[in-house]
Amino acid sequence: MRKKIIAGNWKMNETPSEALKLVETLKPLVNNPDVDVVYCVPAIDIVPVVNAVKGTNVHVGAENLYFEDKGAYTGEVSADMLLDAGVEYVIMGHSERRGYFHETDADINKKLKKALEKGLKPIVCCGESLEQREQGITEDWIRMQIKIAFSGVTADQAKGVVIAYEPIWAIGTGKTATSAQAEEVCKSIRETIAEIYDQATADEIRIQYGGSMNAGNCKELLAQPDIDGGLIGGASLKPDFGKIVNYKD
Ligand code: 13P
Repeated sequence: MRKKIIAGNWKMNETPSEALKLVETLKPLVNNPDVDVVYCVPAIDIVPVVNAVKGTNVHVGAENLYFEDKGAYTGEVSADMLLDAGVEYVIMGHSERRGYFHETDADINKKLKKALEKGLKPIVCCGESLEQREQGITEDWIRMQIKIAFSGVTADQAKGVVIAYEPIWAIGTGKTATSAQAEEVCKSIRETIAEIYDQATADEIRIQYGGSMNAGNCKELLAQPDIDGGLIGGASLKPDFGKIVNYKD
């Protein structure tokens, strides 16, 4: 039985002082021991948010990392920096990073291997554009993204990775994939993991859906057999996030 994981991706929102207010607002709303709750926050918010969630069930994640250990990489943040600041999870390969910052599948593979080597828990994003969906190549495209991302990763390591399926056309658009569309792709991702490794690894790995998930549609999405959680953008900045965490109530 896979434990559900509900993660907020704050993206480039919340200054450090706003972040503290948001943590306070959400504090009484996100209590659910049956679910792993994660706030993935901007790098500058990590230290204050780690302090603010102490003693709660909330885990803190970063939105990105760099794959080199240290050195002359102006503006980047390393795995050791994240760990030392108290970060547990790290998102990689978000479509906004692939699109605006030209991250490639090969970069994401290096980031995944670095995060695993250092003991961070990776959330690896994948997803197709509307054009790719209309061309009927969604599953092929995502299988390729997953195969490249996991190249050189062992089965034991893969079990601890979270995969987030985020159709680009559903991100921030209010256009959610239907639960059937989301389940179809999440199932295909699990089959891809079984193909690369084995069924035991595929059964253990957690797969999230992301893309306009909100308090109204989360229950149906999270009831799908291959959807083990959500990666939530807009609704993670609002009390709605508490409703998603407590989707069964
Ligand atoms: P929205 O929930 O705002 O559509 O964002 C989804 C997302 O990109 C999470 O990583």
